[in-house]
Amino acid sequence: MCGIVGCIGKVNAKDYLLYGLETLDYRGYDSAGIAYLDSSKLELEIVKTIGPVKALIEKLNKPVESHLGIGHTRWATHGVPSIPNAHPVQSMNKKVTLVHNGVIENFQELKDSLIAKGYSFNGQTDSEVIASLIEDKLKANLDVLYVLSEIMKMLHGSFACSIIINGDNDHIYVIKRSSPLLVAKGKGFHLLASDALPLIKYANEVFDLPDDTISLVEKDSFRLFDVNLQPLQIKFTQRDPSLISRDLNGYPHYMIKEIEEIESVVRRLMVSYHPEDKFLFDEKLLKTINDSDNIIFIACGTSYHASLIGARYFRHIGKNASVFIASEWAFYPQIMGKKPFVIMLSQSGETADLIHCLKVAREHDLRMLLVTNVQGSSLERAADFSIILNAGSEISVASTKAYAAQVTALALLTNALDNRHNIIRDLNECCAVISEVRTSSKPKIEAMAEKLKNSRDIYFLGRGYDYDLSLEASLKLKEISYIHSEAIPGGELKHGPIALIDTGTPVIVFVTDDVTASSMRNNIQEIKARGAEVFVVSTEKLSLPGDTIVVRDYRRYLSSVAISSIAFYFAYYVSLKKGLNVDKPRNLAKAVTVE
Ligand code: AGP
Ligand code: GLU
Repeated sequence: MCGIVGCIGKVNAKDYLLYGLETLDYRGYDSAGIAYLDSSKLELEIVKTIGPVKALIEKLNKPVESHLGIGHTRWATHGVPSIPNAHPVQSMNKKVTLVHNGVIENFQELKDSLIAKGYSFNGQTDSEVIASLIEDKLKANLDVLYVLSEIMKMLHGSFACSIIINGDNDHIYVIKRSSPLLVAKGKGFHLLASDALPLIKYANEVFDLPDDTISLVEKDSFRLFDVNLQPLQIKFTQRDPSLISRDLNGYPHYMIKEIEEIESVVRRLMVSYHPEDKFLFDEKLLKTINDSDNIIFIACGTSYHASLIGARYFRHIGKNASVFIASEWAFYPQIMGKKPFVIMLSQSGETADLIHCLKVAREHDLRMLLVTNVQGSSLERAADFSIILNAGSEISVASTKAYAAQVTALALLTNALDNRHNIIRDLNECCAVISEVRTSSKPKIEAMAEKLKNSRDIYFLGRGYDYDLSLEASLKLKEISYIHSEAIPGGELKHGPIALIDTGTPVIVFVTDDVTASSMRNNIQEIKARGAEVFVVSTEKLSLPGDTIVVRDYRRYLSSVAISSIAFYFAYYVSLKKGLNVDKPRNLAKAVTVE
């Protein structure tokens, strides 16, 4: 949610800012804007739009000479999407111009104190309050860095702010707590962005700004301070451009491209964490998990669904494990056992609910592992251990390859702790299934989507690992097709949900688990008897004539690796056939950086 960009030095500011905002637009937003210093007039120009960045690009369809600027895509938290609320926002007397990602929890109190001093505001955002607070303090002719350190002590909540001070054309100032922001170093310029995607085209030396810091960005230098203005060390690292690519590689949408990458993602994980004959996980991590007596999984959305499977893996190797939705655990933390260990799953590594949990976990002295796709993300930097998925950028809001990667990584990890499966053989089998689905099953999945695209409701049914997969299949479908969907454990039908089944109700049933297959076949009879239109996805060994999609056999504990692509293709084709925005579904954002 929300994107920030900024630049100073030998780059064309308009070009970078617009490119950056376009590149970040997958994160989700409702309005956009940039502020740049026009080199000919030495004046700050601000241009904003409601809606897509494309509209902003059209508005700025003229050559602009500028070497200093900041930009923003806003996902409104305080005040409706409107031009006054869009960022960049300015202080009352325009001394301070800034963009902000995050939420200032005590903004009302601060705003009231400014109003009492005679300040007025253009919009309703919490961000404008920060701008006027800075302006107010600057009136006493104090040093900007000192003022920012004072302001940081006053702000409660989350913020990444890039700030330009009127008349000071050689600096961008940054204050940061909890919301993400990165800086990249080029020859004669520095760039800012909320993630590495926009930076990599211009410079691949990147530094993730730590929390509770103030930065002073100039064209040739970058300096970092803590809130007491003590200088801090900076370590730029090289980013692998191939893992941060935004190329569609000829695909019409990111979602389909990312589904098609699942096999290579699984293979890469095998090589990364089990090269040759040995698992390659941090020994300290393995020991910490071995010593712990309770594993607490915390995640949201798709990552939560992957955690459900992870918890099963841990229970199979004899560990207590439970799974919590982050936004629940944050307020009602349940900490069982004498030596609990937290595992957080987050594709983006930026999810605000998890950042909240991380703080709670710290208060309870809990150690934690983060499984993430984004190295250097806020959660990754804060966690004690991390496992990087290296799945390459996931741009589509609907997570696909990251889910398969999360499950694969957890399967590898639990096997590193207790080698009870031949995991490499089993994952190779999965790769064969994934490849088969990609090359042979797609037309059948597409036909199913064509048939069901106008449905009001679609149900998914499964037991055990197939139920976990059903949950994810259902979430994916509702996210991008806006069709109401539920996942139902087969055995629960009779306890209520079967009342929903009527003539023609579509139900997609997974039958890939030999332990539960015969019970699932009974369920199929029960719903058929009530008129349901049933579509069965099964494995060869368990298949019956008439099943819709049959794939080769694989080990049931890897269902979500082997056949999640079936669910993903299905959601994709339904969305496509309904003419919807597959990659950017309404109301959703890729990185949910506000609670
Ligand atoms: C996935 O399709 C969703 N868009 C969403 O549920 C997502 O998985 C959730 O917001 C968690 O994100 P994270 O993995 O980046 O923490
Ligand atoms: N809270 C700010 C606003 O509502 C920033 C939101 C964002 O992060 O996009 O404008």
